[in-house]
Amino acid sequence: MSGALLDVRDLSVRTLASPHTTLVDEVSFSLHAGEAFTLLGESGSGKSLLAQAIVGNLPNTLQARGVIRVGKREMRAEHAGEQRALWGRELALLPQEPWAALDPTMRALPQVAETYQLVCGYETKEARARANTDLARLGLAAHAHKFPHLLSGGMAQRVAFAATVAGGAPMLIVDEPTKGLDHALRDQIVSLLKDVLAAGGAAFVITHDVSVPRSLGGTVAVMRDAQILEIGPSDTVLQQPAHSYTRALLAAEPARWPIIDDASMCRDGDPESREPLLTASALTQRFGEHTLFQNVDVTLQRGERISITGPSGSGKTTLGNVLLGLRTPSAGSVTRARELHPQAFQKLYQDPLAAFAPQLQIRVALRDLMQLHRLQDDAYLPWLEKLGLSDALLDRLPAQVSGGELQRIALARILALKPALIFADEPTSRLDPISQQQTMALLISSIAEQGGALLLVTHDPFLAQKLTHRQIEIGDMRDEPNV
Ligand SMILES: Nc1ncnc2c1ncn2[C@@H]1O[C@H](COP(=O)(O)OP(=O)(O)O)[C@@H](O)[C@H]1O
Ligand SMILES: [Mg+2]
Repeated sequence: MSGALLDVRDLSVRTLASPHTTLVDEVSFSLHAGEAFTLLGESGSGKSLLAQAIVGNLPNTLQARGVIRVGKREMRAEHAGEQRALWGRELALLPQEPWAALDPTMRALPQVAETYQLVCGYETKEARARANTDLARLGLAAHAHKFPHLLSGGMAQRVAFAATVAGGAPMLIVDEPTKGLDHALRDQIVSLLKDVLAAGGAAFVITHDVSVPRSLGGTVAVMRDAQILEIGPSDTVLQQPAHSYTRALLAAEPARWPIIDDASMCRDGDPESREPLLTASALTQRFGEHTLFQNVDVTLQRGERISITGPSGSGKTTLGNVLLGLRTPSAGSVTRARELHPQAFQKLYQDPLAAFAPQLQIRVALRDLMQLHRLQDDAYLPWLEKLGLSDALLDRLPAQVSGGELQRIALARILALKPALIFADEPTSRLDPISQQQTMALLISSIAEQGGALLLVTHDPFLAQKLTHRQIEIGDMRDEPNV
């Protein structure tokens, strides 16, 4: 189509090694100045690979085919080098995993300022001033001096977002930019995307949050099994979906989930089970001048599910780490049931990639852990199957499966250990709502069967409300909004 900022024709991605698996199957669409294109769809359906193929950044084990036009430049997807010449100035990508976009040796502010300097040619002082303003808009004023490893997952994602947008590229591709963010920050990201549209740019947005296309308008497409099932104006697709999968996906928003109400089962049983798994009193955590939480008391029984909720970056993960004994609090104490081995307390990490050794085949990593716990080499298999994942995924490296697949492999790995307490930190952040609901149902029923407990960290008030017996809310201690 003429005049489009981005035009994609018959774009396919397949594995180079045989059997050649098609991961993206002849996708076509175009995107004009001022327009948004939102891609919803099943986890593992090929959304991230489609984005990577457009920008020419696929791993060398995969091959793309098709035609990509950015502005007036027409390129063959086979020749990835061509798109690279446009990176930063004309075409910018925020990858799904923010850490992939950040330099671990650089503080947040210079990472954003660098884009202003290198892409836009601003002097250092001006570049830093602009970067400061951007970070402040995203609630990160107090964190601009931090290195990436000191940022929470949601903060790192916002820094990466700011660095991606700073170059002013008219064609912006963002892969799950709002995952794990509270609603206020999500709306802030959406408003920054609208600024890009208002300035004559276009945005290709991958998300599981339907409120994003509701607000951005434009075109919505739904992807499953490597193909686009449905595509059309956002109002039509969101309000009168033609495909049964789209209807199921829209109906699975956490706000519409039923409440799992089994409070009666959690405090019955033998007297021993009435002893708390852990008791924490007067927990306080300070970092320098900043108090994350103060005087928090928590008692957790077997069979109970509690959630820690609060804005992004408020200290939810930190509180979970303190309860699990992974961090010593500034004040207060935690007592865990003495008869339990430390391995009975397990953490499911927020960032699935960080929980796997990058160079180790997933199957080897799982086997090593099973052996460490004196379990059968493949003790995780029943859970893998229940989570709908194929065993063949395990032959790859962690970066060669989708984020949602890796998140569920990490869950199967922990369920196999049958811990007494699972601390699950945003455990479904990389999943579509249908897979989210199935995954949480499996997590909860497995924990219940084993008489264990769940400590769920989530930014999503609906997940907390629907899935847990009690909620601990933190965040009131912050001295500035949205930090
Ligand atoms: N390097 C790779 N080699 C083989 N298969 C891959 C590779 N990377 C991803 N895949 C597979 O391609 C499918 C689509 O992945 P992806 O695009 O990341 O999914 P999503 O729609 O969740 O973003 C998944 O089934 C994933 O396992
Ligand atoms: Mg993805």
